[in-house]
Amino acid sequence: MDDTKMKRFMQNKERIPDPMRYKNGMNYRRAGKSGLKLPEVSLGLWHNFGSVDNFENMRDMVFTAFDHGVTMFDLANNYGPRGGSAEVNFGRILKENFSAYRDEMLISTKAGFGMWKGPYGDGGSRKYLVASLDQSLRRMGLDYVDIFYHHRPDPDTPIEETCLALDAIVRSGKALYVGISNYNAEQAKSATEILRDLKCPFILDQVCYNLLNRNVEKDGLKEYAREAGFGLIVYSPLAQGLLTDRYLHGIPEDSRIRKGRFLKEDALTPELFRKLAALREIAQARSQTLPELALSWVLRDDVVTSVIIGASSSEQILDNLRINPSFTQEELDAIEAICNRE
Ligand SMILES: NC(=O)c1ccc[n+]([C@@H]2O[C@H](COP(=O)([O-])OP(=O)(O)OC[C@H]3O[C@@H](n4cnc5c(N)ncnc54)[C@H](OP(=O)(O)O)[C@@H]3O)[C@@H](O)[C@H]2O)c1
Repeated sequence: MDDTKMKRFMQNKERIPDPMRYKNGMNYRRAGKSGLKLPEVSLGLWHNFGSVDNFENMRDMVFTAFDHGVTMFDLANNYGPRGGSAEVNFGRILKENFSAYRDEMLISTKAGFGMWKGPYGDGGSRKYLVASLDQSLRRMGLDYVDIFYHHRPDPDTPIEETCLALDAIVRSGKALYVGISNYNAEQAKSATEILRDLKCPFILDQVCYNLLNRNVEKDGLKEYAREAGFGLIVYSPLAQGLLTDRYLHGIPEDSRIRKGRFLKEDALTPELFRKLAALREIAQARSQTLPELALSWVLRDDVVTSVIIGASSSEQILDNLRINPSFTQEELDAIEAICNRE
């Protein structure tokens, strides 16, 4: 390690959270009808927290988030790359800087996508979910997570088995609450009915929703969540970076399009840039950045408990925090007209 790197490492290792962290404007919302409050903005560790990424940058981002009232950190068994390494890195940050703050943090993880070889490292079986959570807890150095999610529906496992496994996990003390993810309205209904009978603290469905992707509006999930009393926690609220200025002047080498597998260059169409220019004008009139407008729009409906942003720098996190979920009807109509434009 050279001198500058060593200095930064030592400074960060000794850094402590900002005592003013709850005075920085973050609002908290109850997850459905539960007693648990989440910050309107949560931080997700899907990208930029893997073994290939810069550790001091990760630590800096966790501090920046926590210092601004972001108490919810979202992980999954397979986040990396390498799969599992985001949990390892986050566990190290917790141990070195946040062990005294565990009770001020919400930490979630998930299992449901392929994680290890053989028939027990994928899907929704009790065998997979229980073993995967044990692995996640070891990687993060934790006794329990606050929320454990089934990451995606598994058509090959009876939903009763998955729900009974989630309930058993809560009863074992390894998770305080459970959630589901990527379940549509019908799938969420099947799970809710079983989990309700079990009196299992099921509080959230984690789904993709943003100005460019309205799938959750189409099958009645929002209405069902409201009626059943669970919240929606929204991932990729910035469409993986498309709803920001990230690609305004070309494709940066350190961007998700260049570094990752999940966002492709062909998403950058002239229509997209036309929409972004028009949305930016509305954002400016509301004294917000484009990403702040996009996040506020998702949060305009209180069935949405939190938006989980990703980031590759602390500056990005700071650019996303001025949430104002109230919109005039004129603003909503203008946004709708822009998004429906070809
Ligand atoms: N349950 C699921 O199946 C599922 C699926 C996907 C995600 N998730 C969760 O949701 C979290 C968020 O997803 P996401 O990362 O796709 O969210 P996102 O907030 O839509 O996109 C994050 C990316 O947008 C860019 N960005 C963010 N703020 C910016 C700003 N102010 N200016 C310029 N660029 C900005 C960054 O891209 P660059 O990296 O290019 O800088 C950042 O990595 C994940 O970490 C994960 O926890 C869950």
